[in-house]
Amino acid sequence: MTDEIVVIPGDGIGQEVVPAAVRVLDAVGEFEFVEAEAGDRVKEETGEALPQETYDLAASADATLFGAAGETAADVILPLRRAVDSYVNVRPAKAYPGVDALRPETDLVFLRENTEGVYAGHEDRLSDDLSTLTRVVTDSASRRLAEFACEFADGGDHDGFTVAHKANVMRETDGRFREAVLSVADERGVDTDEVLMDAFATRICLDPTQFDVVVCPNLAGDVLSDLAAGLVGGLGLLPSANVGPERALFEPVHGTAPDIAGEGVANPAATLFSAAMLLDHLGHVEAGENVQAAVERVLEDGPRTPDLGGDASTEDVTSAVVERL
Ligand code: NAI
Ligand code: MG
Repeated sequence: MTDEIVVIPGDGIGQEVVPAAVRVLDAVGEFEFVEAEAGDRVKEETGEALPQETYDLAASADATLFGAAGETAADVILPLRRAVDSYVNVRPAKAYPGVDALRPETDLVFLRENTEGVYAGHEDRLSDDLSTLTRVVTDSASRRLAEFACEFADGGDHDGFTVAHKANVMRETDGRFREAVLSVADERGVDTDEVLMDAFATRICLDPTQFDVVVCPNLAGDVLSDLAAGLVGGLGLLPSANVGPERALFEPVHGTAPDIAGEGVANPAATLFSAAMLLDHLGHVEAGENVQAAVERVLEDGPRTPDLGGDASTEDVTSAVVERL
């Protein structure tokens, strides 16, 4: 049976890097691609950033590949993550040979809580002067994330995981998160350590080799993984997987890059690495490894896009990857 992959390019460079990934997927297997719309453009046309049809497609597909949405990002990606019941966002941040990185020794994987925290959507304007946000932390979501982290740490070449939190200040919410995650790891016999997330930000800049798998709350994972992107050569390199119990949605960590959108020079690597994760998720492990390796080889040998100091186009890089395959 052919796997069905829903593709949602979205806005800006999403329209450039997602077609690049489709080309690469086409080169390694037989897939049925179903294209769907979301983002600023479709909102302008229809009044809705995420049409019900797109939501329903993502909710029933084997896997979804998403590019990025602009101003409407929160209206698109948060419901899409819910559509696949994604409780963890897997964000590898790795430096690659040939890419000029601030910290070439970086090799981290962030496992970010993906359903709650300060992104749960409970914000209120109470007066002209006062706005509030309610942070949501549940045992169930924290434990579900921790179960995934234990399996992830056991499954790969990892020595347990680190929990990054701020339970010294957010005693109730991060206190609960910390306790739930550590107790699951303890039950499963998985090694852990913990770090306050502000200190973590300094420590990964000074010496990222102190860390490997990092489990963190939603906002912290968002910010810290972007920080790690800076250490490895930029946002053009970071893929991610929004994993649920059955389905998953793959997307580059970056946004629509309005400063370069339409110029055909976006780095497709983040989306191609996301496609490699998608292949792995669908059980095409070897194809996933091949795509990962081909992109790494092209990063090393060139051609490279301008964000990495080169002058190649998205298409040049994609063609080089397809040739390697
Ligand atoms: P951004 O990730 O779009 O861009 C930040 C910087 O990184 C820019 O200088 C951009 O040119 C560069 N960059 C990003 N991806 C690149 C790539 N593949 N190749 C080369 N350079 C790349 O973040 P920014 O500027 O904060 O946000 C722009 C828009 O994207 C906003 O409207 C924001 O809401 C949206 N956004 C959407 C996300 C999503 O849909 N998941 C995630 C983050 C931002
Ligand atoms: Mg982000």
